[in-house]
Amino acid sequence: MDFLRLSDISAAELAGKRIFIRADFNVPFDADGALSDDTRIRAALTGIRACLDAGAAVMLTSHLGRPREGALTAAESLAPVASHLAKLLGQPVPLVRDWTDGRFELAPGGIVMLENCRGNPGEKADDPALAARIARFVDLYVNDAFGTAHRRECTLHALALAAPVACAGPLMTAELDALGRALAQPARPLAAIVAGSKVSTKLTILESLADKVDVLVLGGGIANTFLAARGCPVGASLHEPDLLDAARAVERRLAEHAGVVWLPEDVVVADRFAPDALTRTLHVDDVPEGWMILDIGPDSRDSLADVLQRAGTIVWNGPVGVFEMDAFAAGTRALATAVAASPAYSIAGGGDTLAAIARFGITEDIDYISTGGGAFLEFLEGRELPALAALRARARPASRRLPPTPVFENEPEPA
Ligand code: 3PG
Ligand code: MG
Repeated sequence: MDFLRLSDISAAELAGKRIFIRADFNVPFDADGALSDDTRIRAALTGIRACLDAGAAVMLTSHLGRPREGALTAAESLAPVASHLAKLLGQPVPLVRDWTDGRFELAPGGIVMLENCRGNPGEKADDPALAARIARFVDLYVNDAFGTAHRRECTLHALALAAPVACAGPLMTAELDALGRALAQPARPLAAIVAGSKVSTKLTILESLADKVDVLVLGGGIANTFLAARGCPVGASLHEPDLLDAARAVERRLAEHAGVVWLPEDVVVADRFAPDALTRTLHVDDVPEGWMILDIGPDSRDSLADVLQRAGTIVWNGPVGVFEMDAFAAGTRALATAVAASPAYSIAGGGDTLAAIARFGITEDIDYISTGGGAFLEFLEGRELPALAALRARARPASRRLPPTPVFENEPEPA
């Protein structure tokens, strides 16, 4: 890879340095405000521990949600993340608010959580002045936030350019290695499962995958739009009537290299969007007016399992039904079971997909689980991720050298 990695820097060089780690701790909370999945926190431990073990002073930050700059609410605080991380690390992780001037206490071997970086004015605009201010109290910048690598924001981009030295953390590196391996020379057939509510938000990924994959498995509102484009009645199902031509174009692009779209042949329909709705299982040609498709039917479950069993590589993003409701979970359960049972190399990413993997207990059977959702899709699409572009721009050998002696000072210079 054409950028510096944390593992390229020796522990001796890291000792005493002030290391700023940008992680992606945009984690879910339940209705009571309790952390409901700590996958992204655990995934960042390797890089954090490497820096702490080397005797560095570690500053860690992330965005959480989409706050208004300068107006963080309590629900947007990283406080619960900091206390959970403290338990995982077995050492205190104090939370620092208003940190951009560097006026906080931190000693080598210690770690602080810098409050939600998206609350800082200038973060979203990728403000170079904000980056310059932060860079003054940083010796080494580490980006380990693969899940946010598709955003051009200050702690992901401008700071990577402004810091004395910038490198990718071990999670970022592992993600890029695994995804790159799956896409560069995929074992064929390559099957991609892309599901979700809207074609519109995933149109460019569908177009780009159409050129690369052998089977494009569609689910959710995306599948409904493609069914409508094929002339099936979709009743009151979520779909986008404006995008029928776009759907047909994706099918044509696949056909140019003998690729196919997989769509359900039978579906579970409901009279309303509710766990206790009236349901029927019907052929896709028979969906009645006013009913909505909320899952795939038994014949489709079999045919999908068959497709995935014969795949060489599976890339999975999105469920094929409303699996949060038991009445509509059978399709996604079958999908998860089929991905798990397939001999294919499998990679999965995205919040809903991770929730399905956890729910159906197949974590061990997926070859690589990405912490990225949007970033995972944009990488698959072949787009340049802004955070990586910044790391690449810093890859020149001259910018790889950390100062020879520790420059850590307990009292950072005033702004
Ligand atoms: C995510 O959870 O998808 C990433 O952390 C990016 O978050 P964002 O969509 O709010 O930029
Ligand atoms: Mg998101």
